[in-house]
Amino acid sequence: MKQQRATFNSKLGLVMASVGSAIGLGNIWRFPCEAGEHGGGAFLIVYIFCVMILGLSVMLAEFFLGRASQKDAVGAFKVLAPCSMWKIAGYNGVVAAFCIVGFYSVVSGWTLEYIYQSATGNLNAGSVEEFTENFKNFTSDAFRPVLWVFIFMLITHFIVLLGVKKGIEQTSKLMMPLLFVILIILCVRSLMLPNSIEGLKFFFKPDFSKITSGVILSALGQAFFSVSVGMGCMITYASYFNKSINMPTTAVSVVALDTLVAILAGIVIFPAVTSFNISPSQGPTLVFVTLPNIFQQMPFGNLWSLIFFVLLAIAALTSIISLHEVVTAYLHEQYKMSRNKAATIVSLSGFAIGIICSLSFGVLSHIKIFGVIIFDLLDFITANLMLPLGGMFICIFVGWFINKKFLKDELTNNGTIKFRLFYVFFILIKYIAPIIIALVCINQLGLF
Ligand code: PHE
Repeated sequence: MKQQRATFNSKLGLVMASVGSAIGLGNIWRFPCEAGEHGGGAFLIVYIFCVMILGLSVMLAEFFLGRASQKDAVGAFKVLAPCSMWKIAGYNGVVAAFCIVGFYSVVSGWTLEYIYQSATGNLNAGSVEEFTENFKNFTSDAFRPVLWVFIFMLITHFIVLLGVKKGIEQTSKLMMPLLFVILIILCVRSLMLPNSIEGLKFFFKPDFSKITSGVILSALGQAFFSVSVGMGCMITYASYFNKSINMPTTAVSVVALDTLVAILAGIVIFPAVTSFNISPSQGPTLVFVTLPNIFQQMPFGNLWSLIFFVLLAIAALTSIISLHEVVTAYLHEQYKMSRNKAATIVSLSGFAIGIICSLSFGVLSHIKIFGVIIFDLLDFITANLMLPLGGMFICIFVGWFINKKFLKDELTNNGTIKFRLFYVFFILIKYIAPIIIALVCINQLGLF
């Protein structure tokens, strides 16, 4: 007998779970770091274009694949295009999810350390140099960050085991609104700092001469990373959607909320960056050095910082759960493993990659591949290559190989809801998105 698939309980729950996957360290840690390294305002403009046009289209295409097939990232291609090579796009996603878990768990672990530091009152006194120094000492340590990765993976493991409804939906529903509120409070605080206007200028005023092919590729990669598309995460979640969900409006809500949070994070970080004279292009350390500085300017700084890092850790958790779920669902459904066994394999191997990524800041920092440490390599390959290419194949598949009427029927719930922009969406995924992504990737590889 065919087992009934799990579905999300409520409409709100499912939007929240997808938003929970999208909003995470990508918005608050990776976005400011990429924007800082790639020219601020110039990056922001390209990013908004990429996320609103390309990210949104790929998300909707993934929603279609998931709900129409009711399968995991690989299974979806197998069902909709039996005996074809398309399942490779699914494998690309599973491998990408796995690699992202590796470096994502490390940064998630850092948030736990910061929770601990705030709770013990150690995060509220120091100069920018001291915070930077402490952060570097901590991340290059061989034991402590690894311990946090372990704890984080353990929590993830148990939530994934609780299953779709209880674990994923509930966690997301609770924390998203809270994160929003605290970000707005932090924006206000940051804008009141001296010289904050310079930071706003850096973030919002585009210098078009800074837009290079590297900037475009990073913005494209960041857009896909931030809304969790290109690797089957939204395919997997949509396979749990019930048939009455309005997928176009859900996709728009997820992308809009995600972009809003990224912009709010920019408004928190960049004014503080100019105010404290921090270099915006210092990479992954940026947020972890800037934020403690903001908190120590606030009354009850430790408390604020505690609340913030707890929320950030939860945001990271709801994202890593979705990555974990991609691989777990794949193993569970394609190899008929129990969910328990599948989740255990993913958690253990995710932890193993997490250890390597964490150590690449310390004892393994001498190992450089293409000139970068393992952590940066995985970050670059997944976000800037695997997700855009995965997204491109998803668009080509849905645009060229899926029957157009079938696509339209599924996206309009058999004509019961309106999707006025269907033809715009169709042209986007059939022609525009694949061409843009291909040009950006080819250009970046230096092939023309
Ligand atoms: N979107 C998540 C974030 O912004 C990261 C993520 C990427 C999650 C890809 C799932 C898939 O933090």
